[in-house]
Amino acid sequence: MSDETATASAGDTLTVRDNRTGTEYDVPILDGTVRAADLGKIRVAEDEPGLAVYDPGFVNTASCRSAVTFIDGDEGVLEYRGYPIEQLAENSDYLEVAYLLIHGHLPSRDEYEAWVHEITYHTFVHENVKTFMQGFRYDAHPMGMLLASVGGLSTFYPEGRNISDPDNRHMQMVRLIAKMPTLGAFAFRHAQGKPYVYPDNELSYTANFLAMLFKMSERKFVADERLIKALEVLFILHADHEQNCSTNAVRSVGSSQVDPYSAVAAGIGALFGPLHGGANEAVLRMLRRIGTIDKIPEFIEGVKAGNEKLMGFGHRVYKNYDPRAKIIKKACDDVFEVTGVNPLLTIALELEKIALEDEYFVSRKLYPNVDFYSGLIYEALSFPPEMFTVLFAIPRTSGWLAQWSELVDDPEQKIARPKQIYTGDRTLEFEAREKRWT
Ligand code: SDX
Repeated sequence: MSDETATASAGDTLTVRDNRTGTEYDVPILDGTVRAADLGKIRVAEDEPGLAVYDPGFVNTASCRSAVTFIDGDEGVLEYRGYPIEQLAENSDYLEVAYLLIHGHLPSRDEYEAWVHEITYHTFVHENVKTFMQGFRYDAHPMGMLLASVGGLSTFYPEGRNISDPDNRHMQMVRLIAKMPTLGAFAFRHAQGKPYVYPDNELSYTANFLAMLFKMSERKFVADERLIKALEVLFILHADHEQNCSTNAVRSVGSSQVDPYSAVAAGIGALFGPLHGGANEAVLRMLRRIGTIDKIPEFIEGVKAGNEKLMGFGHRVYKNYDPRAKIIKKACDDVFEVTGVNPLLTIALELEKIALEDEYFVSRKLYPNVDFYSGLIYEALSFPPEMFTVLFAIPRTSGWLAQWSELVDDPEQKIARPKQIYTGDRTLEFEAREKRWT
């Protein structure tokens, strides 16, 4: 059995009897899991393949050991490096949380100041990146532009492929965290046919992002402090979420030892999907489609009939209220104090109230997730729905990189290459076209 058995206590085993052979196996249980490799030793004959585990979507499969983020889905708990998300959202800022995720501890004053300085002075991108982005059609989806430009950054920093050098890894992670807001803002301005706005290094990370998005002819654009604070909270809440679909994509692509730009581009692609990060955009379109409160019952019946999903509800892990949704709901009030209440909020609140009382949703433990309310804030901040997932990808970059860095340093990790259950034909005879096409 694997060398992990050395640390599992004697009682922590599974005795499996293979009724095909009558043989019994003691399989070690470690950290609530059994190793698939140990199950692979269960076979009918020496020259037969051993057992594998079939788990579409990895619903019940651990792919790695990680110390970055802890989630307790039943209790609605989320902690970054052991710190409860509520405390970080209340007391920290995004760059400090990004430092915590990547380095594993909160920074000292010197570490924080050095980190902020490094990120601030790497916000610019090569002019060729701007030219590249200007080549997109006027109506290009900003997530497609972000995906392509982040992947393209790997060609500007070829040294990023040297992933075994920690100092080099650090530099590439600084560049990615620093440049994501610039690329996101460029994509936003592109869609509006407005000139791209260069970073203002005198502003904080989120204030600079808002300036690159909304600055027009004024000499300096400084957003309302309440909006800057709300965006800091949203960025903190979206920074990481253990092995979600896009992090799994970053780890899977990263397991080939490719550079971090290419791995993060894969994460952006996964996040784009409507079941994942694209849900916040889908929520807003859903609320707009419902239109008025009296249409909610008919919409809910459609969901229960299986015609569509209630976007922004449900989660693979949370079978309780997503703690982030609670915090975002509170942030709505702060933002609406500046922008005025988003009229769709009334529909969202009523939809949530009805769903939380309806057996269909209660029995499936479907609660609002992080995407249910975030779209309302983004719309109130004058972002079009296409930008919502970009606003998710920017902060999630620090989580993706923390997980990627952990993967690179993990001696247990190998290139991702799952098995399959083959269902196709076998050993067919190829027939020449002349015969086949008669
Ligand atoms: C994010 O993984 C992460 O951590 C992701 C994320 C992060 O920070 O990275 O938290 C961010 O992606 C949040 C999720 C955003 N997506 C949505 O809001 C889209 C709507 N939600 C669903 O598509 C769904 O809930 C998932 C994809 C989020 C989770 O799906 P699961 O765990 O695979 O559950 P499932 O699809 O097997 O559903 C179980 C049952 C099914 O009903 P039955 O077949 O048993 O009758 O619940 C139903 C589903 O049909 N169901 C829903 C539903 N979500 C699940 N029914 C109606 N509306 C929904 N939203």
